[in-house]
Amino acid sequence: MFVLGLQGSPRKKGNTRILLSAFMDEVERRGGYTKVIDATRKKIKPCVECGTCEKKGYCPLDDDMQSLYPLLRRADLVILASPIFFYGVTAQLKALIDRSQALWSRKYVMGLEDPGRKWRKGLLLTVGATKGKNIFDGAVLTARYFFDAIGADFEGTLGFRQVEKVGDIEAHPKALAEAREKAAELAEPFLKRKKVLFLCRENACRSQMAAAFTRQLAGDRFETESAGNEPAEQVNPLMEKVMAEKGIDMAYLKPSAISALPSGWQPDTVITMGCEVACPIFPGVVPQEWDLPDPAHESIDFMRKVRDQVERRVKDLIRNGSL
Ligand SMILES: Cc1cc2nc3c(=O)[nH]c(=O)nc-3n(C[C@H](O)[C@H](O)[C@H](O)COP(=O)(O)O)c2cc1C
Repeated sequence: MFVLGLQGSPRKKGNTRILLSAFMDEVERRGGYTKVIDATRKKIKPCVECGTCEKKGYCPLDDDMQSLYPLLRRADLVILASPIFFYGVTAQLKALIDRSQALWSRKYVMGLEDPGRKWRKGLLLTVGATKGKNIFDGAVLTARYFFDAIGADFEGTLGFRQVEKVGDIEAHPKALAEAREKAAELAEPFLKRKKVLFLCRENACRSQMAAAFTRQLAGDRFETESAGNEPAEQVNPLMEKVMAEKGIDMAYLKPSAISALPSGWQPDTVITMGCEVACPIFPGVVPQEWDLPDPAHESIDFMRKVRDQVERRVKDLIRNGSL
């Protein structure tokens, strides 16, 4: 499983960082992999409301946010971690949140579904100095709307009051323990899934579609990765188009080499599609070969046929439980 943390405190040894680390360390200890994006160290311009994302489905502002969209899409669980600043999240994190409008547009204007949508979860981790009853309300509303935009179910808030000075969180009687407990609870169902690796030559069409269909249809039972033995520069635009015809959003995917799989990630099942010569063998896993034609440089109709074959094979495998 992949957990993405979005950290919004500007303080070097701030309470939020420590709380988020406790959460992420627990996920890693249990076998998940994690990445923390420190929003206060990234160049993320605020949304300028240019309307491009509503017309074209992407944000034209060229900055660090562009590398975050793929991570948001990959994540099984997204943690929004922020101190309370004026009843809300910090400005740095808010800029990141506002830029997720591009994902909102893909979902609500273009009507596309991210394959991970049904299973992704989101949690707000937060701290505030005062003990006021409503101190988290503003951040909670923002988090709720953010998680909806990025395609995640909002699992709630872990918030701690009267945490003010650097290090206060460590002296808190239960905050770190509760963060670890929450991590264990949220990670458990994801960590139980079978790991499936789809391999093709370029990781531009077939293996990307197979991973997306599997994730969309049964992402609660299967953790999917895909890769290629000769990864292309970019995914095939025709592949994106024919998947969009089925309402599936393939944006922000990049072909990946087999060597770029998360370190230590060991599949239970490997399915190959025309890359048998150079495919590596994972210890103890006998790859299954799917005989599917390579749609690279072919027509859109050809791509549609391959898409439908991939979908049928994924459905059969899920139905027979033999993935
Ligand atoms: C600009 C600013 C605004 C703040 N606004 C609030 C607030 O509205 N409510 C509150 O309870 N604490 C507020 N605080 C206090 C912080 O939330 C608190 O010190 C927190 O522990 C900081 O977390 P950190 O160490 O992770 O940065 C504010 C602090 C700053 C610097």
